[in-house]
Amino acid sequence: MRSVNRVVRFSRFGGPEVLELVDEPLRDPGPGEVRVALRAAGLNPADAKRRRGGPQYAVTLPTGIGRELAGVVEAVGSGVSRLAAGDQVFGAVPDGAFQTHLVAAENLFALKPALLPWPVAGGLALVGQTAWDALASQPLAGGETILVSAAAGGVGGVLAQLAVLRGIRVIGSASAGNHAWLRSRGIEPVEYGPGLVAAVRALSPDGITAAFDLHGPSSVRQFLELGIPPHRINTNATDPSLFGIRRVGRGPTSIPTLDALAALVVADDIELPIAASFAFERVVQAFQRLETGHLRGKVVIVSDDPAVLPGTVEATGR
Ligand SMILES: NC(=O)c1ccc[n+]([C@@H]2O[C@H](COP(=O)([O-])OP(=O)(O)OC[C@H]3O[C@@H](n4cnc5c(N)ncnc54)[C@H](OP(=O)(O)O)[C@@H]3O)[C@@H](O)[C@H]2O)c1
Repeated sequence: MRSVNRVVRFSRFGGPEVLELVDEPLRDPGPGEVRVALRAAGLNPADAKRRRGGPQYAVTLPTGIGRELAGVVEAVGSGVSRLAAGDQVFGAVPDGAFQTHLVAAENLFALKPALLPWPVAGGLALVGQTAWDALASQPLAGGETILVSAAAGGVGGVLAQLAVLRGIRVIGSASAGNHAWLRSRGIEPVEYGPGLVAAVRALSPDGITAAFDLHGPSSVRQFLELGIPPHRINTNATDPSLFGIRRVGRGPTSIPTLDALAALVVADDIELPIAASFAFERVVQAFQRLETGHLRGKVVIVSDDPAVLPGTVEATGR
């Protein structure tokens, strides 16, 4: 086993180039904690926003980065009862997920099914539970037609597919290159941009009953133009008070929700595509890819230290 923990952190705010890799001593897990050897971790727009800085983020520098990961439990602290060394797990942490040997509370991790590929597990916990909790916040009945912006993205893609599984008709916005994928998952695609309102009206002349925004203010303006009642619009991507709409994102970690999401992915009832996979050390390039703003599913980093993480490189297909 490696005797150092390699950590991604930043000491000043800015673009991906402010990220640095530092080696720290391994830490033993305390009561209720586990130490997880990283195999894969998902990047999220929120990581980039926090790294760029702003008054809304209470950040003390230097700081770690990253919210969701998957790995192997390699040590457990006192009082840990559900997980044991050798367990394959995935989960989301408050911050600092991008380190090769993360110590965090046991109750943040669900068991990873053996059939769930590492990169997918690494990118599932945060976006999956955000999608689950956002969808659950709206009372929806079969036969309704909903609209989802950024439906090929991490959160939007999972949310749209969960709704389809519930018998809800889903129209989702994406660029043309992602339309075939949306159709393959039962989502009716429309191109975002100035033609969206007319395209949605043509697809659903009787209107849209609820909408979920994963892109930002321009999508919310179009939802309102379509006549969707504000209380039936949820955004995860902008300030809801600007529009009198709702913001329901991810609640506290729910292990049953993570278990259910993993089972749905293994059964191919939902798909979380991996848009790009980078070696852990190439985290700067991974963020550059994420911050193009155009991707299907997730950008992930994977550990390729064979001493710690055998098999990871093969699992990603890089
Ligand atoms: N509150 C919470 O708990 C919570 C949790 C997670 C995320 N979020 C927020 O939710 C938002 C979505 O996160 P995410 O991880 O799903 O993002 P993401 O995966 O990075 O979203 C990328 C998607 O945005 C689409 N897109 C780009 N330009 C667009 C436009 N003009 N109109 C509509 N879609 C466009 C892209 O489609 P194309 O590739 O086809 O161009 C791409 O598929 C972010 O703002 C994030 O910070 C909130």
